[in-house]
Amino acid sequence: MHIFAISGSIRPGSSNTALLHAATTLAPPGTTATIYQSLTELPYFMPGNYEESAPAAVANFRQQIRAADAILICTPEYVFSMPGVLKNALEWLVASGELYHKPTAIWSASPSATGGDQAYSSVERMLTVMEARLVPTAALQISHVSARVNKQGEVTDDSLRQELRQAVAALVAAAT
Ligand SMILES: Cc1cc2nc3c(=O)[nH]c(=O)nc-3n(C[C@H](O)[C@H](O)[C@H](O)COP(=O)(O)O)c2cc1C
Repeated sequence: MHIFAISGSIRPGSSNTALLHAATTLAPPGTTATIYQSLTELPYFMPGNYEESAPAAVANFRQQIRAADAILICTPEYVFSMPGVLKNALEWLVASGELYHKPTAIWSASPSATGGDQAYSSVERMLTVMEARLVPTAALQISHVSARVNKQGEVTDDSLRQELRQAVAALVAAAT
């Protein structure tokens, strides 16, 4: 069981990326996970004849998604939506279809009380159109994240750690 994880934040010290690192340590035995590191290497999406000859970074991104059993996305909210870098990455998958029927969990996290619910909704809307298999029991909207993940990227809140563990387990169960 292999999970391919994408953080919507490219910020050094990102709380969203820290949550994905925590998720990899909390995953059920037998689970492997990769956190995608190359969001900034993807060119800006442009529709065209890219199915046979995609740019190398795009081809690699698509291949890693194809090879994964499940996808986990954790995103911050910028101005009531998902960050542009994440939307750009997902746009590269619309026509090529790697997310079609792929078990996928959406997490959003924000320092605010909303937990990034608008970012969550924007990703959910896009992945629904792309016909990813969204796993509701694995979904999370994580509020007050800056008080629950410290500067070292450690989850300091036991209840959040428990939520992460349960959500990853639900994603793995859905993909098995
Ligand atoms: C330009 C900008 C816009 C933001 N807009 C929102 C927003 O609409 N809603 C929200 O909850 N947080 C917003 N934030 C705060 C982010 O949620 C916060 O910076 C978060 O920690 C980013 O995630 P990261 O730690 O993974 O980088 C915004 C931050 C920036 C820099």
